[in-house]
Amino acid sequence: MVSIGILGVGTVGASVANILEQNADILEARAGKKIVVKHGVVKNMGKERGVNITLSDNPADIIDDPEIDIVVELMGGVEEPYALVKKALENGKAVVTANKALLAYHRYELQTIAGDIPLMYEASTAGGIPIIGALRSGLAANHIESIQGIMNGTTNYMLTKMINEGALYDEILKEAQELGYAEADPTFDVGGFDASHKLLILASIAYGIDAKPEDILIEGIENITVTDVDFAKEFGYEIKLLGIAKKTESGVELRVHPTMIPATSMIAKVDGVMNAVSVVGDRVGETMYYGPGAGGDATASAVIADIVDIVRGNGGPMLGYKKGLEGGGLELLPEEEIVTHYYLRMEVDDQSGVLAKVTNELDGFGISIESMLQKPHVEDGHVKLLFTTHECQEAKIQEAMLAFKKLDCVHGEIAMMRIEK
Ligand code: HSE
Repeated sequence: MVSIGILGVGTVGASVANILEQNADILEARAGKKIVVKHGVVKNMGKERGVNITLSDNPADIIDDPEIDIVVELMGGVEEPYALVKKALENGKAVVTANKALLAYHRYELQTIAGDIPLMYEASTAGGIPIIGALRSGLAANHIESIQGIMNGTTNYMLTKMINEGALYDEILKEAQELGYAEADPTFDVGGFDASHKLLILASIAYGIDAKPEDILIEGIENITVTDVDFAKEFGYEIKLLGIAKKTESGVELRVHPTMIPATSMIAKVDGVMNAVSVVGDRVGETMYYGPGAGGDATASAVIADIVDIVRGNGGPMLGYKKGLEGGGLELLPEEEIVTHYYLRMEVDDQSGVLAKVTNELDGFGISIESMLQKPHVEDGHVKLLFTTHECQEAKIQEAMLAFKKLDCVHGEIAMMRIEK
């Protein structure tokens, strides 16, 4: 028999306990041993959890219990779970975590501490999709060219409802919270941080890049307007919050931001809480993974997959390699050196010569316009100018935006969104 202790019995923890109990027969058949939850630890003992396991509020009841073989960490946060996971590993216990924030900050230290003790984290990234297993094992033959996808269920749910049904931002965020999709602090979802944690985890497995969220470009969905959505529709794009990791000749691009993508692409058709990740390997070509990115049972499904793997004896190095990948030579590409297509939105005076001034600035930075739209606007005699550009460097777009702000004919904020073709 294998004994499990669960740190954090919230939406996902309760699903883990219930699936282990209700699907015990197939799990024993697949793992080769009976798997039983011995104990759960919660912060608030007063809350009903809907589980048939003993509960307490002291993590030592799990970490220091010699009978517990596998610690499942589902608490959230960073430093507190780090200390507990470290202690559990030092006590010789295998660990399964769904905690992407913990891994975004401490994955390399944890790999060192874990050594040969299994530390698994399939549920940390893209909920129920087995993307960690695919990268660690299934695609092991490949140099990874790129990883690109929808890695946050809450924001995809919100964007789908906002774009397709005109739902209001606050109402739809509340709905995502009620469905158990959102983080305890939903700014992690809407601000792109949750997706960045997942991207960093994937980039470690694919490229060995040791970056933290602070090191990469992260933008959320808070500033998308109806004008942007209408423009996207008119020009054949969908707007998705994407995590992108791309190997270039000079380094690896890592970025999370709302992105216009062709409406005909597979990822553009991924709606609601579903996530989808495309991975391009140098030998296999493009592979695509699709499934629910959040929710109790979907995430628990991934947690339990890790438990079964550990019971079967399939641990392996945490990040999937024992020596540096690609000679250890891959570096994070500085933000300014990212190259892509851009969409720009600005408000300008509705007067002759204004368009020339604006396009002149773009020309000055060597930025070539791909398409343009002027929307008659109402207030103050202004119009909205909307552009897309051919490929150019991020630094040039940022400089052009600063230059636009200095023009007398340009008013208010200038919005920018990146486009991936
Ligand atoms: N809040 C996360 C999401 C949960 O919406 O994707 C899964 O990590």
